[in-house]
Amino acid sequence: MIGEGRLKQLHQLLEGYSHEELVWINGYLSGIVANRNTNGHEAKQAVKKINLVFGTETGNSKRLATQLAGVAKKKGVHVKLADLSQYRLADLAKEDYFFVVISTQGEGEPPIPAKKFYDHLQESTLSLPGLKYSVLALGDSSYPLFCKTGEEVDAKLEQFGGRRVVPLQKCDVDYEEDAAIWFDKVLAIVDQQTAATPEPVSVKPIEKKATGKKYYQGEILNNINLNDRGSNKQTYHIEIGTDEQLAYEPGDTIGIVPANRKEVVDKIITLTGVDPSLEVTTTKVTAAVRELLTYNLNICYLLTSTVKKYATITAQEIPDTRMDLVDLLRIYPVKNTDQFIEVLKLLMPIAPRLYSVSSSPVSHGENEVHITVARNQFLAQDEQRFGLCSEFLGDQPVGTAISFYVHKDKHFKLPAADKDVIMIGPGTGVAPFRAFLAHRDATGAAGRNWFFFGEQYFLTDFLYQSEMQQYVQTGVLTNIDLAFSRDQPEKIYVQHRVLEKATELYQWINNGAYIFISGTKDPMSKDVEAALLQIIAQEGKKTNEDARQYLDQLEKEGRYEKDVY
Ligand SMILES: Cc1cc2nc3c(=O)[nH]c(=O)nc-3n(C[C@H](O)[C@H](O)[C@H](O)COP(=O)(O)OP(=O)(O)OC[C@H]3O[C@@H](n4cnc5c(N)ncnc54)[C@H](O)[C@@H]3O)c2cc1C
Ligand SMILES: Cc1cc2nc3c(=O)[nH]c(=O)nc-3n(C[C@H](O)[C@H](O)[C@H](O)COP(=O)(O)O)c2cc1C
Repeated sequence: MIGEGRLKQLHQLLEGYSHEELVWINGYLSGIVANRNTNGHEAKQAVKKINLVFGTETGNSKRLATQLAGVAKKKGVHVKLADLSQYRLADLAKEDYFFVVISTQGEGEPPIPAKKFYDHLQESTLSLPGLKYSVLALGDSSYPLFCKTGEEVDAKLEQFGGRRVVPLQKCDVDYEEDAAIWFDKVLAIVDQQTAATPEPVSVKPIEKKATGKKYYQGEILNNINLNDRGSNKQTYHIEIGTDEQLAYEPGDTIGIVPANRKEVVDKIITLTGVDPSLEVTTTKVTAAVRELLTYNLNICYLLTSTVKKYATITAQEIPDTRMDLVDLLRIYPVKNTDQFIEVLKLLMPIAPRLYSVSSSPVSHGENEVHITVARNQFLAQDEQRFGLCSEFLGDQPVGTAISFYVHKDKHFKLPAADKDVIMIGPGTGVAPFRAFLAHRDATGAAGRNWFFFGEQYFLTDFLYQSEMQQYVQTGVLTNIDLAFSRDQPEKIYVQHRVLEKATELYQWINNGAYIFISGTKDPMSKDVEAALLQIIAQEGKKTNEDARQYLDQLEKEGRYEKDVY
């Protein structure tokens, strides 16, 4: 079938390829063979146009999709790149090749900008027989519902008659390599297949390689409330020490899995009459009931889907609403401990929470990391309640053991030492900027630094006040602008201070400064972004559209970064 010379060439070509790569090449060649017509000629018209859409909350899917679109362009494939927030839903039925990059957020929820698209898919009955698609799902395997949104979008597109031409690819936080492999497959399909021929591929998603997060074992060295007496807030400055050298940089976050409160666990044990030492096997672990309830299972603010399953197990009518397990057990009790054991098995693991590091290894040592944690408070069942992890962290006395992992952020990073930096971070948004400033101070970086900070009251809420004052005195901080919203009759926020400094800020930006925003996503980061757009339009004499483009360009160049939540 093949001459000896050619066979030798083939062997030489394949030398050094891994088993996995050979399996992929095998599939790739099958695609080519399948798409040659009976005369042995390749199908005439290769598809050279695809839709690549992204659904993102923290920017990873957008950055990735933009990068992949660039790769496709170089290969002569025309890509229509779109944010799912802007995507016209009516167009879906007309699409030919449709590739989706989408993350999972919250507790297995779609990114907010993609929610309209996601809801449309969930709530409609569509017919998409002409659609050839694949989904790249971004996620984090530390979360109980890993890549759930990507899975759901993939399943819906198939259910509506779309043909999956490349299997769903799930990616963990180190998504680059898996994404590149997925996109190679996408491009190979686009290159090889005519619009009419692709065969649907198996439903089985491509499992990503396990990243095996490294958990550090640390000890609380310091835990102090930064707010003064009389404040409405509690913000903890927490220092964690480790024996092992830490691998993190300013701009990274650390992930912490909190434990449930002992009083709540005790209440659950009393309400159900379960033996706390009874060993139970859940989907992930086998442990005694008390241990499971304390360290493994999420008992707070259960998802409506979990409440529904609880209703089925206990055969009771319960409204579709989220609530804590303890409230559920109180209002809709289980009949016996067997029922409760069944309930335990349906609970999900406790999800980690991320906290921006507020220290720099260069300044604070390589065996120490600091975080700045606001005690989360809210009303539920007419009671003042507190967020699980922030309360857990606030309660940890000096000397307590704590485990955590480092979550790298490749983009929210200090630029070269000579570049100017504009940092806008009210509230706990100060955290990464305390790290930036400490790093720049310790390394003698020449670039200028401008910090915008805001909180409620100057007297009680100026977080890290003495450090900031010192940075002003030593010249590390070139400018600092403060917005204490409740110190005067009218509310003043950081975005107002940003607008007041329009001319000087625009000069900084035009001279190459990097802009960073950290803190609350909504409304703070949106209001600050609106202020920046206003400044760019006003000072740069641009239309609103040109101002948007200018800011988008800064974002593309990595000169406009956000760490918001
Ligand atoms: C990249 C990133 C960086 C971050 N950096 C920081 C930082 O530097 N500092 C910081 O303080 N935070 C930071 N956060 C936020 C942090 O991760 C947590 O989200 C925050 O501390 C709240 O977590 P929690 O466990 O205390 O609250 P949770 O228990 O998760 O509660 C969160 C919210 O859920 C709702 N809720 C919970 N239970 C109920 C109930 N029973 N009934 C009704 N509603 C309920 C409430 O609205 C509540 O406010 C960051 C987040 C991200 C993504
Ligand atoms: C608050 C929060 C909740 C998250 N929840 C999940 C989740 O439930 N499942 C998951 O797989 N990933 C989860 N992730 C991880 C994100 O999907 C992951 O960081 C992804 O790279 C973000 O992509 P994006 O920037 O395009 O939104 C969560 C991240 C954050 C910050």
